[in-house]
Amino acid sequence: MEKKEFLSIKEAFGKNGSVSVRGWIKRKRELKEKIFVLLRDETGEMQCIIEPSIEKKSFEELKKNSIEASVEFKGKLKEDKRAPNGKELLVEQAKVVGPSESFPIQKDLSEEFLLDVRHLWMRSSKMTAIMKIRSTILYAVREFYKKENYFECSPAIITPNACEGGTTLFPFAYFGEKRFLSQSGQMYLEVMIFALGKVFGLTPSFRAEKSKTARHLTEYWHLEGECAWMDMDDQMHEIEKMVSFVCSKVAEENLEELKVLGRNPKDLEAIKVPFARISYDEALEVLEKKYKKKIPWGVDLSIKEEKLLSQDESIPFFIHGYPTAIKAFYAKETKDPKKCFSFDLIGPEGYGELCTGGQREDKNKNMLKKLKKEKIPLENYEWYLDLRRFGSVPHSGFGLGIERLLRWICKLDSIKDTIPFPRTINRSYP
Ligand code: 4AD
Ligand code: MG
Repeated sequence: MEKKEFLSIKEAFGKNGSVSVRGWIKRKRELKEKIFVLLRDETGEMQCIIEPSIEKKSFEELKKNSIEASVEFKGKLKEDKRAPNGKELLVEQAKVVGPSESFPIQKDLSEEFLLDVRHLWMRSSKMTAIMKIRSTILYAVREFYKKENYFECSPAIITPNACEGGTTLFPFAYFGEKRFLSQSGQMYLEVMIFALGKVFGLTPSFRAEKSKTARHLTEYWHLEGECAWMDMDDQMHEIEKMVSFVCSKVAEENLEELKVLGRNPKDLEAIKVPFARISYDEALEVLEKKYKKKIPWGVDLSIKEEKLLSQDESIPFFIHGYPTAIKAFYAKETKDPKKCFSFDLIGPEGYGELCTGGQREDKNKNMLKKLKKEKIPLENYEWYLDLRRFGSVPHSGFGLGIERLLRWICKLDSIKDTIPFPRTINRSYP
C-alpha cells in the first residue's frame, strides 16, 4: 500500500468505493470464518470485515493478533445501516504493522492498575476524550488572551524563593545552592507587567502536597495572569470572560468527547458572564443558615465548605474579601486591614476552588511590614521589593489550575485523569 493512499477514518467515511486506512484494533471477534475488527485512529472508528479469501498469510497474522495491534487495511466501503457510521469496510488487503499479542489491559480495570499501565491506558476512549478536551482548553486560553491583547510570558521554573509558603516547596541542590521548583510564576509575571501591561503564563507548577485528595497533584499546569492598573473587580471580570470562552469552545469543538464522558454540552454553553460574587462574610452566613455549619471568622474554607456552597450551583462563582491572615503575604489589604482584596473562583457542582487571585500590595512599606511579620527572610525577595521601589502601580492577577478546570468541565471524579502522567505523593511512574 502506498504511503500517500492512506486516509484518516473520518476522511474515509466521506468517500465511496476503494480506500486505505490505518490504525489500531480496538475490538476484534471472529464469526463464521470472518474476522470483525473495529479499527480506531485519532479521528474515529470504523467497522472492518476480513474474509478468509484475502491473502492467507495476512489473514492468519490478523487472527493471531489481539487488540491494539497496528494495522493497514485496503478495501471497499459498503453501506450498512447497522454499522456505527452507516458504512463498513470490506477488507481486500491487510497488513499487521506492529503486532500485539495479549494486551495487558483486559479484566483488571482498578484505578491503581490503570495508573500503572497509564502508557497503554492512554489509548482508551475515556483518556482520549479527556486529552482532546485538554488540548481545546490550552488552545482556547491562548486564543482568548491574544484577542484581549495580553502577552504570553515564560516565568522561570527554578526559583530562589517561595511564592506560596514553605510547606509545599520542592527543594533541590543547584550547584551547591538550595533552589526550588516553582509553585507559581506570579512574582515573575509581576515583573513583566512593567514592560508589557497585561501578561499571562502557562507553565508547570509544583507543590509538595502531602495530602491525597481528588484535587491535588504535585505537578500541575498553571495558567496565571497579571495586569497593571487593574483592581480586583476588573480582574474577576477578566477571569469570568476567559472561563466562559473556554467552556463555549469545548461545547463547540468536543461534542463527541463530551458524550463519551457523559457531560451535557448545554451545561457548558450555559456558562455565561457575569458570575455571581459573594463575600467571605456572606459565605459564612450561608454555611451557618443553610447548612447549620458555623465557621469562626478568620478560618479558611476547606473543600468541605466549598462543596456545600457549590453543590447546588451550575455556574462558577467568586468568593472575595478573605481574611488577610489566611492569604499570602502579597495580598493587598482593604480599608479594614483584617480583610484583603483576594478572591477564589469556585467551581459549581461541588468541585470547589478553580482559581485564586487578587490585587497585590503595591506599597514597599506595607510589603516590607508583611514580610517581616511573617518572618520571611528578605534576602531572596530584594528583587521583588524593587518592583515596589521603582514605579510601582496598582495591579492584580490570578492563578488557575488547568487540571482543576478540566476536572470540572469533564465532570471527573479524580484530578489524576486530567493530566497524561499524574504525579502525586505516591506516584511518579510511568
Ligand atoms: O491558590 P494558589 O496556591 O495561588 C497561587 O499560586 C497564586 N500565586 C496564583 C496567582 O495569583 N498567580 O494556586 C492557584 C491555583 C489554585 O486555585 C488551583 O486551581 C491550582 O492553582 N492548584 C493546584 N492544582 C492541582 N494540584 C495542586 N496541588 C494545586 N495547588 C494549586
Ligand atoms: Mg488558592
